[in-house]
Amino acid sequence: MTTERSDALVFFGATGDLAYKKIFPAFQAMIRRGHLDLPIIGVAFSHWNLDQLKERARDSIEKHGQLDPAAFEKLCSQLSYIDGEYEQPETFAKLKEILGNAKRPLFYLAIPPSLFATVAAGLANSGCTNQARVILEKPFGRDLASAQDLNRTLHQFFPEEAIFRIDHYLGKEPVQNLVYFRFANPFIESGWSNKYLESVQITMAEAFGVMGRGKIYEELGAIRDVVQNHLLHVIACLTMEWPADSHSESLREARGELLRCVRALDSSQIVRGQFQGYRNEPGVAADSQVETFAAVQFHIDNERWAGVPFTIRAGKCLPVTTTEILVRVKPSSHPLLEESGPPMANYYRFRLSPEEAIALGTKIKKPGERMEGEQIELVAHYQEPNEMDPYERLLGDAANGDSALFARQDSVEDAWRVVDPILGDSSPLYEYEPNTWGPAQADQTVAPKGGWHNPEPKEKN
Ligand code: BG6
Repeated sequence: MTTERSDALVFFGATGDLAYKKIFPAFQAMIRRGHLDLPIIGVAFSHWNLDQLKERARDSIEKHGQLDPAAFEKLCSQLSYIDGEYEQPETFAKLKEILGNAKRPLFYLAIPPSLFATVAAGLANSGCTNQARVILEKPFGRDLASAQDLNRTLHQFFPEEAIFRIDHYLGKEPVQNLVYFRFANPFIESGWSNKYLESVQITMAEAFGVMGRGKIYEELGAIRDVVQNHLLHVIACLTMEWPADSHSESLREARGELLRCVRALDSSQIVRGQFQGYRNEPGVAADSQVETFAAVQFHIDNERWAGVPFTIRAGKCLPVTTTEILVRVKPSSHPLLEESGPPMANYYRFRLSPEEAIALGTKIKKPGERMEGEQIELVAHYQEPNEMDPYERLLGDAANGDSALFARQDSVEDAWRVVDPILGDSSPLYEYEPNTWGPAQADQTVAPKGGWHNPEPKEKN
């Protein structure tokens, strides 16, 4: 795989929602750091001109970032725009002309997956794919069979090493830190297994609903939207074996090897919920069976993790917006240690958002005559004001040909293999009130031993 830098960036879906919320702010941030010195070409079919696109970019950065006049001006000077239909060869002929002598263009398909094949074919037929790279947005298919189909289609036009599948959770600083923290601290890594750990749970809670995305969400549901991708990748980072070396492919292989060991789910290991009011959202069917909440229990069939339950809970309209992991350590006891009060816990708590923190739940001796303990938490906060947004990091990596933080074909397919049996209405759907922790059934059927840990709205300082 070459790491020769891309010399032009073309993004399809330039007038769309993702470009507005994430891509323009990421472009400006990259320019500020000096990481995006190449022509940027937006493509869409909205009957717009370049000035309108620049206006949209300004508005996007003001709403979803902070406008830096100098960097924004530079972004505008690098920007051009093609308004054209993705089915029309003229669109791609114009693109070829604007690309000129670019030798290694990077194509970013920030468009619905149903258009991936059309755009990939348009690029190939116009002779734009030679030495090119392509970035794809999730979802990569809607089940195992469609993901395999999509991959077959893409491979007609691009070799695997030129395909960059974005899962923005892999680009998040605190997810990177999960890997670093584990491997850099031997005292943790040596106890990171079923010998010492009792359970792992992840809560991805969002205090908002589908925010106007009802029509899209109807095609997804919580399992396809975040469990199959973001949360399985977080599990992989948390549990993979040491990568063979520091090469990107070794990291991908370590995650891939782990995902191969995740057991396929069955409908007894899931509780699906839907918040009251979801069916009144625009674009949502009056009798929708789509889940806005899912709680599932995974098992990893390898030597390190056999017997440790991994429970995941993800939902919209929950009481807080936060993603947190709690790793409970098996309890220990000894006649020397006097037990009084509620049982004490040893745990690791990783808060991925909104404030980032790593905490250790430990026991210390209460001052006094008795060998009695008290529960304390040691917390490290590490958020940087100038932290790289995942999109900034990932676009930069793709432009450099570095695929470490992108999902490989086998991993995407393995993640679908795991969730395939629980997709759709293979399990009952329970209603829950907004601003609660989902349906009560999630506390009974799939809750980890010791119960769910409900994260606080704000990390204590
Ligand atoms: C997206 C999902 O991939 O991730 C959204 O489609 C979800 O439904 C979002 O809200 C969460 O991302 P983050 O970075 O805000 O946790």
